[in-house]
Amino acid sequence: MEYDVYSVRKDFPMLNQQIYGRPLVYLDNGATAQKPLSVIECINNFHTSKNSTIHRGIHFFSEQATEEFENARKTVQQFIHAEKSSEVIFTSGTTGSINGLAWSFGERFISPGDEIIISEMEHHSNIVPWQMLCERKGAVLKIIPFNDDGTLEINKLDTLITVKTRLISVMHISNTLGTINPIRAIIARAHANDIPVVIDGAQSVQHTGIDVQKLDCDFFVFSGHKIYGPTGIGILYAKEKWLHELPPFQGGGEMVNVVSFQKTTYNEPPVKFEAGTPNYIGAIGLAEALKYLTKTGLSGIAKHENALLEYGSQKLSELDFITLYGQAPDKSSILSFNLKDVHHYDAGMIIDKMGIAVRTGTHCAQPVMQHYGISGTIRASLGMYNTQEEIDTLISAVKKVRDMFA
Ligand code: ALA
Repeated sequence: MEYDVYSVRKDFPMLNQQIYGRPLVYLDNGATAQKPLSVIECINNFHTSKNSTIHRGIHFFSEQATEEFENARKTVQQFIHAEKSSEVIFTSGTTGSINGLAWSFGERFISPGDEIIISEMEHHSNIVPWQMLCERKGAVLKIIPFNDDGTLEINKLDTLITVKTRLISVMHISNTLGTINPIRAIIARAHANDIPVVIDGAQSVQHTGIDVQKLDCDFFVFSGHKIYGPTGIGILYAKEKWLHELPPFQGGGEMVNVVSFQKTTYNEPPVKFEAGTPNYIGAIGLAEALKYLTKTGLSGIAKHENALLEYGSQKLSELDFITLYGQAPDKSSILSFNLKDVHHYDAGMIIDKMGIAVRTGTHCAQPVMQHYGISGTIRASLGMYNTQEEIDTLISAVKKVRDMFA
């Protein structure tokens, strides 16, 4: 069936409104995506008529909520093609997943002098937790640089990997440059050296199908709210063997087996990593979002977004007062740019007044800005409901900014 963006838009109530007297053009999907009505209603229904905590009661609603929560885990498993649903851990989001993993992995596997490799284009969530771990354990953080076009200098990986490398953590798709990184090649090189790999899928899972088994990554993380699901929920996927080897990163209810003041034993994964009352309504809402994407068709969504990206890139590159950041041949959904002699923040304020939501600033990726020697960019990040007309509106707004500053 042909992808019909106008019909998709009707599923997203947030899009159907005006700001400053103009139709909203929402181009900040990299920061957070809007939710389809099915997700909003699912969460609302749960609060209205089903709410009860999971794994803790034998009464009707508790049993029902537990079942829905565990079914949500299976939906995530199927969506990312994990081998087992027990390899799917619910967290608060990408940041929660990476922080938990960094603590856990660090406790078990990192000693002074060990090395962890990330890339120069990471967002702060995939930098700072590893930096904190390195500071705590006396380990060393090493960086894969990127070229000015936004491609990773993947050939440097072989010299960065040493006998002391314990982990590589890289983003699948860059939130500032849109680069689709060669993660299969990175994983293959890492595994040839017995090094596990974390893939940060915060900006990829909503744009491209993910098969963690085919990728053969050890860990894969993403957030619910960027994939048309609720906020405060995310996923840490880990190959089963790691879940047995890693210690839990939080203590509390449910993650335990026997608790005494002398000794506590832990539950089996995944609940070993889900201390306390989890965000079960978030998990169920996330599963609803994944069902919506599957029903709409991932390949149609990707094709539509790729066509929009190509159109937007072409239109922006026709403007001689624009610098476009991130021109990797393999790219997705991000248009990051600046206007000559205009601060990104000033441009963003004017673009906003024209009803267009873009993000301005460093996009939680200050090292990328340092690479180019700039203080920030204007970023339009595309989603499944954006249209060519919205790109045209953005281009008109950018021209207007130029005229105002001329
Ligand atoms: N949430 C951040 C973004 O907007 C990283 O890309």
